[in-house]
Parts: sequence; C-alpha cells; structure tokens
Amino acid sequence: MTHNKKLILDHIQKSYSDKGQTEIVLKDISMYVEQGEFVSLIGPSGSGKSTILQIIGGLAAPTAGYVQLDNQMVTGKRGLISYMPQADCLFPWRTIEENVITALEVAGSKRSDALVKAREWLPKIGLGGYEKKLPQVLSGGMRQRVSFLRALLSEQELMCLDEPFGALDALTRLDMQKWLLGIWEQYQRSVLFVTHSIEEALFLSDRIYVLSEKPTIVLDEFHVPWERPRDSAVTISREFQQLKQAIYESMQRGHDHS
Ligand SMILES: Nc1ncnc2c1ncn2[C@@H]1O[C@H](COP(=O)(O)OP(=O)(O)OP(=O)(O)O)[C@@H](O)[C@H]1O
Ligand SMILES: [Mg+2]
Repeated sequence: MTHNKKLILDHIQKSYSDKGQTEIVLKDISMYVEQGEFVSLIGPSGSGKSTILQIIGGLAAPTAGYVQLDNQMVTGKRGLISYMPQADCLFPWRTIEENVITALEVAGSKRSDALVKAREWLPKIGLGGYEKKLPQVLSGGMRQRVSFLRALLSEQELMCLDEPFGALDALTRLDMQKWLLGIWEQYQRSVLFVTHSIEEALFLSDRIYVLSEKPTIVLDEFHVPWERPRDSAVTISREFQQLKQAIYESMQRGHDHS
C-alpha cells in the first residue's frame, strides 16, 4: 500500500511542557512525500513547521505518532535525511568550503573528494573566491546558500529545507528558486520544503500542505498541475492566480477557525 512513499508522517503529535504547563503545538499531523516528489509546507509562524522537520530529522521526539522513511520506522533516528535548518548553523571557525563538506565528512566521504565537490559547486551558487573565507564575511543570503549547498551535497534522498530562501532579496530569491528547480528536475530527490510564500510553494511544488495555527492540523492539500521542467511563465497564468487565491483562503479559514 505504501510502496512508493518516501516519507510518511502518521498522526504526529507534539507538546512542549514549560513550568508545569503543557502546550500542544502539533495536534495531529499526517502527511507523505512520494519518491521524487516536491512537497511544500505552508502555515503561520509558530504553527510548528520547523518542529515537523526536526521530528523527521530525529532532532525532536514526537509526543505521539510515527515517522516512516522507505517503509521503515525511523522515529527518532538521525542521519537519514539532508536537512537545512532555518537558522544557517555554519561553524564560525571552519572555512566556507569546510562548512560545505561537514555533512559529507560525517557520512564518511574522504575529505579530499568532498573538497573537490565543494569547490566545483561554490562558484555555481555565486560563491567562487570565498572557499577559504570564514562565514563571518558573508551576508545572510550568502550564508543561506552555503547552508543550502551543504544540505544538497549530503546526498540523502530526502531533503528537508526550512525556509531556505527566507533571507534573500526578491531577485536573488527567484534566481535561487530557478536554480533549485533545475537541480531538482535533474536529480529528482524527494523534497519537503517549508516556506511562507504561497507563490514560491506554487512555483516549486507538486503538492502543498496548508497548516492551521497551533494546535496544528493539516487544513488542506493542494495539487499543483504544471509539468516539468517548469518555467517561471506559469506564475503569470490565470490558474496560478486562482490556486494562489484558494491557498490564501484556506490559510485565512485556518486563522478564523482558531
Ligand atoms: N524547544 C522548544 N521548547 C518549547 N517550545 C518550543 C520549542 N521549540 C518550538 N517551540 C514552540 O513550538 C511552536 C512551533 O515552533 P516552530 O519553530 O516549529 O514554528 P514554525 O512554524 O517553524 O514558525 P516560523 O514560521 O516562525 O519559523 C512555537 O510556539 C514555539 O514556541
Ligand atoms: Mg520555522
């Protein structure tokens, strides 16, 4: 039944306790990502999107429910996904290229091979010449790109990206979206992508989950119809505007509901 599902979240719940008070953040989250599918998660700030990715990555434990990857129970297990956290988490004492290869090194790659890869990719994300610099000399957007590249090169089949383009200006963001689409269309990794931008979700995804405010449930699921390779021309189509409106209304209903 579940044979081509890369990832399944099965009735995930998550509460946090603080000073004797328990707050339910995730009330009931079930979702999936198919092999090679690009899925976005969209929802209000504080709804638990980052928490969901942390649960998938084994960095936070769900209060109830299960995570399955390739039909295996992996709840709480680490090291199985490529993960780009919301904050860029670069190591300040490592050079840019050393930061890029961290995940590869952890996964057991030879350092020299990993460095060859990093040096091949850094110019492609506009960071040629920065290989031996430290993160402190980079802008927020440049740091995000390094963090993104690190996740990309870690080569797990499922990539979980937490607002990877949040700190970028509109033009760079569009460039990065196109670039990500190109890479994804070429490599067909499975992606779970967190964003606040309905347009970004529509442009990139095969499917979009809309989350409510906390205690969070999945409000709606949207299928995005455009074929691949996808061109930014889709964003000016009438259907794009209609879907955008439908997602907006779904989010609005979630807001009114709580
Ligand atoms: N370690 C923690 N301890 C207590 N509460 C936490 C912890 N981590 C997250 N929370 C709470 O869980 C809720 C969801 O947080 P999360 O960061 O997952 O939201 P988000 O949807 O990613 O928000 P944003 O869009 O702003 O990034 C928030 O109310 C937050 O305060
Ligand atoms: Mg977040």
